[in-house]
Amino acid sequence: MSDAQRPHFPRLLVTGGAGFIGSCFVRDVLARKDGTEIIVLDKMTYAGNRENLDPVESDPELAARFRFVQGDIADAAVVAPLVAEVDAVVNFAAESHVDRSILDPEAFLRTDVMGVHILLEACRLEKERALKGERPAAPRFLQVSTDEVYGSVETGESRETDGLEPRSPYSAAKAGGELLVRSYFVTYGMDVVVTRGSNTYGPYHHPEKLIPLFITNAIDDQQLPLYGDGLQRRDWLYVADHAGAIGHVLEHGVSGETYNVAGDNERTNREVVTALLADLGKPWSLVRQVQDRPGHDRRYAMDSSKLRALGWTNKMPFEQGLATTVDWYRDHADWWRAIKSGDWKDYYNRQYATRLATSSEAGK
Ligand code: NAD
Ligand code: DAU
Repeated sequence: MSDAQRPHFPRLLVTGGAGFIGSCFVRDVLARKDGTEIIVLDKMTYAGNRENLDPVESDPELAARFRFVQGDIADAAVVAPLVAEVDAVVNFAAESHVDRSILDPEAFLRTDVMGVHILLEACRLEKERALKGERPAAPRFLQVSTDEVYGSVETGESRETDGLEPRSPYSAAKAGGELLVRSYFVTYGMDVVVTRGSNTYGPYHHPEKLIPLFITNAIDDQQLPLYGDGLQRRDWLYVADHAGAIGHVLEHGVSGETYNVAGDNERTNREVVTALLADLGKPWSLVRQVQDRPGHDRRYAMDSSKLRALGWTNKMPFEQGLATTVDWYRDHADWWRAIKSGDWKDYYNRQYATRLATSSEAGK
C-alpha cells in the first residue's frame, strides 16, 4: 500500500456504531481493507442493533480488525481507556428521532450533550498525554451533526457560517453538542471536525423514521401517517454517501472546521411517499393525513460546496437509492419485523394511535 492510500487514523473509536449510519461507516471502512482497526462503543438503546454489524462479525478478516464494547458515551470510566487506544474518535452516538425528543427530551440532553462532553474530556486527557510524549499525537474528534441545527430554512441554502436556530429538543441538543466541540478547539486547541448531514436513508434504517416506516407499513398494507399537509421539504442523502463523506472529512477535513453534507435531492414528503408507493406497487389510499408534528420544521436545505472543494462528491441519485432501499426492506423482513415487536408497539401507539383515529383522507 502506498503512503497516499494509508489512512491517517488507523485505529478508530466509532461510537453509536450499531445504529443506522454508524454501522454503514463501520462496514464500509473495514471493507476498504486498508488495515484500519475499529472499536465500536454502543449503549445498545432501542436503536442499536448488533445485526447491523453481522457483515463484519461474520467475515474473519474484517472481524480480526473489529471489537465491540457495549457502553454509554456519557460514562467516563468506560470511555477514557478506549480513547487511549485510538488515533481518532468518530461520534455517531445520539438519540436521533425528533418525535421521541418531543415525547421525552431528557435522554437527548444526556447523550447528545453530556455524552459529547465526556468524549471530549477523554480526548483532552489524551492530548495532555501527547504533550508529555506519552503518545505520538492527540486523537482527532469528529462530531456527526445534522442540518437540523440550522432550523427551518424557508428559502435558499444554509452555509456553515450561518447561525444555529434549532427548534426541537433533538436539534437543540445536537446544536449544544457541536458548540461544545467548537469550544474545545478554541479553548484547548484540540483537533476537531464537525459534519452536518442531511436526511439520510437506505438499508438498516430504523423503522421509526419516515421512509422505512412507510415502506414497512405499506408492505403490510397498514396506514401511512403523513404529518400535516405533507408539503414539508427534506434533502435526501443515501447512507453510503453520508458515511463516505464522514470518512472523507476525517481524513482531509481542516481542524476546527464544519462541513455540510447535502444530498442535493430535495423532495416534499408527498413526493417521497408517491415514489416509494410506486416502487412497492401499493395504492395512495394507504396514506392518512394526521395531526402535524409540533414545531415541525418546514424545510432543510444546505450548500455543500465547501465539502465538494475538499474532494467529496455525492454519488447516489434519489430514485435509484430509494428503489435499492425498497428492495432491501422487501428482502430483509426478518430484520424489521424483529424491531417492530415488543416495545415498538407501545411507542407506535403513543405516537400514532390518536393521530390515526382522528385522521382524514390525504387526497393526492
Ligand atoms: P440511530 O438512532 O440509528 O443510531 C444511534 C446509535 O447510537 C444506536 O446504535 C444507539 O444504540 C447508540 N447510542 C445512543 N445513545 C448512546 C449512548 N449514550 N452511548 C453509546 N451509544 C449510544 O442514529 P443514526 O440515524 O444512525 O444517526 C447517527 C448520527 O448521525 C446521530 O448523531 C444523528 O444525530 C446524526 N445524523 C443523522 C441523520 C439521519 O438522517 N439519520 C442525518 C444527519 C445526522
Ligand atoms: O435532517 C437530518 C435529520 O433527519 C436527522 O438529524 C435526524 O436524526 C433524522 O431523524 C431526520 O429527521 P426528520 O425529522 O427530518 O426525519 P423523519 O424521518 O422523522 O421525518 C421526515 C419527514 O417526514 C418530516 O417532515 C416528518 C415527516 N413524517 C415523519 C414520520 C416519522 C411524517 O409525515 N410521518 C411520520 O410518521
